[in-house]
Amino acid sequence: LEEEQPEPTTYLKDKATSFYVGVAMKSNNLNGKYDEIITHEFTSITAEYEMKMNVILPSKGQYNWSQSDAIVNYGIENELNIHGHALVWHQSTPDWIENFTGTDAEFEQEIKDYITAVVTRYKGKIKSWDVVNEAVLDGNGNLRNSVFRQRMGDDYISKCFQFARDADPDVLLFYNDYNMTEDQAKQDAVFDIVDDMQNRNIPIDGVGFQMHIRYNGPSKAKMESATNRIVERDLLAHYSEVDVRVNPNNDITTLTDERDIAQKIKLTELVEVYNALPSANKYAITIWGIKDNDSWIIDLYNHPDWPLLFNSSFEAKKAHTGFLEGLE
Ligand code: XIL
Repeated sequence: LEEEQPEPTTYLKDKATSFYVGVAMKSNNLNGKYDEIITHEFTSITAEYEMKMNVILPSKGQYNWSQSDAIVNYGIENELNIHGHALVWHQSTPDWIENFTGTDAEFEQEIKDYITAVVTRYKGKIKSWDVVNEAVLDGNGNLRNSVFRQRMGDDYISKCFQFARDADPDVLLFYNDYNMTEDQAKQDAVFDIVDDMQNRNIPIDGVGFQMHIRYNGPSKAKMESATNRIVERDLLAHYSEVDVRVNPNNDITTLTDERDIAQKIKLTELVEVYNALPSANKYAITIWGIKDNDSWIIDLYNHPDWPLLFNSSFEAKKAHTGFLEGLE
């Protein structure tokens, strides 16, 4: 495989004209080969972790805007769309919030102040935000008992969306979660939450499916039926964190041709499903990282994998061609 020529390169953005093609990146990706790939291939960026609360507000009152500003300025200079991720997520809660010692009312005020500060700072610059990320548990669809739920009640999701809307009347507000195509209980629960929000006129503009998927699943039919539930509600659909694991069972030690091709086919299917949506419901497909050896998947599972569109030498893989083929 290493002796093969890299796949011929048409840039993703040349062919994806009805939605943004995004990539998750870091503030140390703003030059060199990273910068080349971001600006040649993509039309949208998301901070992989530097706009999360534990980075922006690591301790009470101590805002750190250095990395998030660098990413936003880079996006503006390069005329890229910017998707904000994520205002409220149980895994990026700073310790002072996780172990908050004040009253529930004081907790809610801190969250309101935080959301207001971040959304206001980037008003007119960031087009969309994941307001709440991963609020629903796997398997049973129950609300995750995060510190946000404990302190602000079951309605904390709606409260956070309203805080964001009050800070910026134009920014697009997304609910974002994973396992949305294969976990039926979770999928039902998320759409129940969305229905309830829409019934009460809580401002929500879209739903993000993370789409951390595998070379052998989910099926195209499952991707289609789950995504149609976004369309039925007249919301924007975002495939927000796409990567395609090729080694979920840790049974290969190098990327085989077979898995490389299977990954390509699965990504083609994902792009086909997305591209077939009505244009009014399309927002973006965001790839969760630039090159394989930088992917969060490797840290998470602690074994080799090749989940992205570029290899460790910044060369386009078959999956890159697969993305383009999904647009035909
Ligand atoms: C991950 C990033 O990729 C890592 O770099 C970071 O250390 C932890 O978060 N779901 C999400 C993303 O919504 O924010 C996560 O990103 C991956 C899972």
